[in-house]
Amino acid sequence: MSAERFKVVVTDFITDALEPERRALGDIAGVTALGACRDEELAGRVEDADALLVYHNIGVSRATIERLRRCKVIVRCGVGFDNVDGAAARRRGIPLCNIPDYGTEEVADTAIAMTLALARGVSLMNSRLRAGNGPWSYQQTVPLARLRGRVFGIVGLGRIGGAAALRAKALGMEVVFYDPYVPDGRDKSLGVRRVEKLEQLLAQSHVVSLHCPLTDETRGMINAAAIAGMPRGSYLVNTARGAIVDTAAIPSAIASGQLAGAGLDVLPTEPPADNDPLIAAWRDPAHPAHHRVLINPHSAFYCEEGLLEIRVKASDAVRRALLGQPLRNVVN
Ligand code: NAI
Repeated sequence: MSAERFKVVVTDFITDALEPERRALGDIAGVTALGACRDEELAGRVEDADALLVYHNIGVSRATIERLRRCKVIVRCGVGFDNVDGAAARRRGIPLCNIPDYGTEEVADTAIAMTLALARGVSLMNSRLRAGNGPWSYQQTVPLARLRGRVFGIVGLGRIGGAAALRAKALGMEVVFYDPYVPDGRDKSLGVRRVEKLEQLLAQSHVVSLHCPLTDETRGMINAAAIAGMPRGSYLVNTARGAIVDTAAIPSAIASGQLAGAGLDVLPTEPPADNDPLIAAWRDPAHPAHHRVLINPHSAFYCEEGLLEIRVKASDAVRRALLGQPLRNVVN
């Protein structure tokens, strides 16, 4: 087998010396990184690629996929694959694989970190005291409820939802989940309680934590009406995908006290526009959302070990595809 037989392209995000990729693939392929930020930038640079490694800084459209002449696999270097047109790839006979497990624990940790920061008043007190607001006292956060015994409601009991369930149980919370696709029995192995309808979950959860994918069914699922169906003074945590939540509904829900706080690792548009209503409220020191909404830049997946794990596992997936070996984690 001659060296440089195949061409592997990393479309976005990674722009360093590609050491993990070259270590895994160097004997059979040349690997290049484009550092693209938009699908259009791929034109003329990927058509002859044998494999694409796609991160989260771009979407890969049907038009791009239809121009691929010899691609044997597209690997989404992450869990969510809504930024690649998987149906278009399927029509072309190109498998789309994801890397499902590199950040399971970190995302669950972040959901719990946000839950604790909100429900223990950690972020609220820090934010108000630093701004010189109010007394040097726990009274900044009154009333806070004891977490033990309260309901932690999980939407989507997959890998991350399951890991979040175990962590919430360790805090003494009662874990309830809504997931129409998870087979019976997973509730028993995790010691959690299933509800049949989303409204039932919302109505009883002190914390609602989202762990489902972004699909036509889940887009906008948590809107103003859904938030109104949660107990007054509850918390919303989203580490899944931004567009699952209608974030424009959050500022008024915080201002009215319907939500006591929200933790958002993900937003419908990343980075958000300055005039986005949620961002404007969050930046405005006079708006209650300023102290009660936590926003992170889609970073829940991140730790150094996990980042290396994605690159090694993605390169291994490409290697299997190029050598005609059975693929794992095909999602289209
Ligand atoms: P998974 O595929 O193991 O679990 C997703 C669960 O959601 C499945 O059990 C599925 O049945 C359920 N589900 C699907 N449609 C649903 C619906 N309409 N209502 C309720 N549940 C539904 O995926 P995993 O690994 O747990 O990841 C979950 C999501 O987290 C990913 O789709 C991804 O978008 C997001 N994510 C975010 C990261 C971040 O950095 N913030 C990093 C990794 C993943």
